[in-house]
Amino acid sequence: MSLLRPVGIVGTGSYLPPRILTNDLEKMVDTSDEWIRTRTGIRERRVAAEHMAASDLAVPAAERALAMAGIRAEEVDLIVVATATPDAFFPSTACVVQERLGAVGGAAFDILAGCTGFLYALGVASQMIATGAHNVGLVIGTEVLSKITNWEDRSTCVLFGDGAGAAVLAPVEPGYGILGVHLGADGTGASLLHIPAGGSKMPATEDTVKNKLHTIHMLGSEVFKFAVRIMGEASLRALERAGLTKEEIDYFIPHQANIRIIEAACKRLNLPQEKVYINLDRYGNMSSASVPVALDEAYREGKIRKGHNLVLVAFGAGLTWGAAVVRWNLEAPPEAGV
Ligand code: ACO
Repeated sequence: MSLLRPVGIVGTGSYLPPRILTNDLEKMVDTSDEWIRTRTGIRERRVAAEHMAASDLAVPAAERALAMAGIRAEEVDLIVVATATPDAFFPSTACVVQERLGAVGGAAFDILAGCTGFLYALGVASQMIATGAHNVGLVIGTEVLSKITNWEDRSTCVLFGDGAGAAVLAPVEPGYGILGVHLGADGTGASLLHIPAGGSKMPATEDTVKNKLHTIHMLGSEVFKFAVRIMGEASLRALERAGLTKEEIDYFIPHQANIRIIEAACKRLNLPQEKVYINLDRYGNMSSASVPVALDEAYREGKIRKGHNLVLVAFGAGLTWGAAVVRWNLEAPPEAGV
């Protein structure tokens, strides 16, 4: 008999700041709507208000996920926040969120794995619940990338957006839930996507601020090549762990970085368009928030049904990658109208 109990997602939620920034970025940098749409698939993105931090986006997303699950905040005994844009170095954003939700007492910590953060958080939290060490987990991906974007760098500023997504994890009936997780990293690619200053290696000085070294620096074409290869590969590894084949995928929720990267992954997995959720046209790349926001929207729209085999997959700074296979354990919500 296995010592581990099945764990699944029992509620999802998301929050997108209301301000929309369209591709009308020509006034800021030398670019065009046409270039952005054809090279990335992005039409617009959300930008948080000046005063908003990662926790301000995370809290409403978490509240929506808890409401769907019918679980009170006091019942949550584990909070894992994936973010590359924490409120501060410390305390963790998870602790800030815990206090604001009124869920004090359980474990709370952040995970940094770039855009793969949500998959890492899901993998870690689900195993902490599967062992019986914790009972109800809240896994959140939240990003305010607009605050670490160099708005004068056309090669990055057109790509990113702000948002947050959350999932509530708990034990579920046998045969359902998270069936397989695959996580990986290749630190030799660290310099391809990084923020040079602001940490202990290069603390903030007037010069680092002047030279915008606290913003995202990326070698886009190299990250692109890596992403095209790894999305399909990571999905296949997670499927293998789950004992499933690519033919058994019912719905695919990829990290939303670039439509061409998603198309390459779908080709590798033989997936038709109707099995793939895409919202990057509306939100751009929200790093660790992309996958949970897409999952929440797909579920609320009725695209995901009980018994469906889902693949969630992401890649990001590190370089990192991760995929999870989930057999969905919830009936469609009333708002899906199915
Ligand atoms: N508008 C107009 N031209 C541009 C823009 C822009 N916004 N950005 C770059 N260009 C130019 C370049 O300067 C280059 O011009 P040149 O040929 O005269 O030198 C040309 O367009 C082609 O540039 P490439 O970088 O080769 O373009 P590519 O087709 O690779 O697309 C992109 C660039 C969209 C960034 C792509 O490489 C990509 O999506 N990479 C992956 C990015 C990604 O997913 N990052 C994940 C972040 S994850 C995390 O953890 C935060």
